[in-house]
Amino acid sequence: MRLLALSLGSGAVFAVLFYLWGRELFPRGAGRWGGTFPFVGAVALTLAVALFLTEWFGFAGREVRKVRLAARDFLFLCSLALLLFFAAKAVIDLIAEIPSLGRSVPTRVYSYLIPLPAFAMVVRVLINSETSILFTVAASVLSAAAAAGSWPALLFLLLSGTAGAARARRVPDRYRMLMAGVQTAPVCALAAAALEFSFHGGGGVVWAGIFGAFNGLLSGPIALAVMPVAESAFGYASDIRLMELSGTGHPLLSRLMMETPGTFHHSVVVGTLAEAGAHAIGANPVLCRVAALYHDIGKLGRAQYFSENQAGAANVHDAMSPGLSRAVILSHVKEGVRMAGEYRLGDRITEIIEQHHGTSLLYCFLDKARPMIQDRKASEEMFRYPGPKPKSREAAIIMLADAAEAAVRSLARPTPQEVDETVTGIVNRIYLDGQLNECDLTLRELHAVGRAIRQVLTAVAHARVDYPAGASN
Ligand SMILES: [Fe+2]
Ligand SMILES: [Fe+2]
Repeated sequence: MRLLALSLGSGAVFAVLFYLWGRELFPRGAGRWGGTFPFVGAVALTLAVALFLTEWFGFAGREVRKVRLAARDFLFLCSLALLLFFAAKAVIDLIAEIPSLGRSVPTRVYSYLIPLPAFAMVVRVLINSETSILFTVAASVLSAAAAAGSWPALLFLLLSGTAGAARARRVPDRYRMLMAGVQTAPVCALAAAALEFSFHGGGGVVWAGIFGAFNGLLSGPIALAVMPVAESAFGYASDIRLMELSGTGHPLLSRLMMETPGTFHHSVVVGTLAEAGAHAIGANPVLCRVAALYHDIGKLGRAQYFSENQAGAANVHDAMSPGLSRAVILSHVKEGVRMAGEYRLGDRITEIIEQHHGTSLLYCFLDKARPMIQDRKASEEMFRYPGPKPKSREAAIIMLADAAEAAVRSLARPTPQEVDETVTGIVNRIYLDGQLNECDLTLRELHAVGRAIRQVLTAVAHARVDYPAGASN
């Protein structure tokens, strides 16, 4: 499947390459192939592009843990590459049309305007830094081919793309994205001027510097323009999108607030805990806070079945069989994933909703179901969430914060020492149950997250509303 996506993608990339630059690339190869050369050349180059992309992404996908790309990611990267070619061609043609510039600026200098830094930024913000490096190298090679394969163009693209991606770390708002572009500009200007001088002498150095700076400055606005389109077309969620989702004006959050106030309060506290946990280990605090707000949206419409919404009322599970209780409680994960898709919350929040209980046990019903288990009418495994287990550090932090909040909430009037012991017990239980086996949280980080959660919960537990015991998170 991946190979097919790769081949199709590279074929499409080349078709555009050939269409846009065919005349400049292929006349040199004419000779005895005569009129048929452009076609034969196109097939040969498509094969070369497919081979290059298969080897490049295949090797990285096998050996670099964070580059396990899905078909969707390939499709996205190929679309970006196509867009890059079109943008480059459009800009270059447009400049050649300006008579005063067309005469005074050598054509080769236009290649310093190819907007790769903007695209590398988008890939880093929407996927991750490892993939943005791979994309920068692949797109540089392909775009340099478009710029008649010149060395300065290839080196400039490699450098400017890397510089852009490097400056797009944690971009929670538009200002930060624009600033990333501004910081990239001097690097691009210097690189363009230096490369132009070293390969072609002093003639176009000033223009190269100006075009390089322009390229860097424009990378922020271009990335901001491309991102919302990519998010809605491919289901990604940037930190900027997450910040938009964190406002309580979002229909899901206002429903959560009005219909299930207990769950809303629980989600806000989990968000605060998870954010502190993320800060403690350098994970993404924005993702943790916002995903925590939405992690239990699957409880909407079934508020009374969850303990945090039962304050003062009878527990409806007393009148239900353990099997039925189990089905209702387990379904909140699946329902949450469905709602996340319906409201287009993006891949990162959806994954966390899906993973926030991992395959953990429904401890609150296990005691009630003990006779059934002893009679072999049910097994302990039936009282486990279906998973998957947390795959990222952020998902793991939310699992820990969620379980810790629920456990501390069930204590009547906890002393700081009780909070401490409860959180330590929860962290140990989750670790020993193997729930953190599939994410890359180190033991040192687990310890740091536990400490951060303990500190915040001790402070929160002082001024809180009491909930009934046996709380389920
Ligand atoms: Fe939950
Ligand atoms: Fe929860």
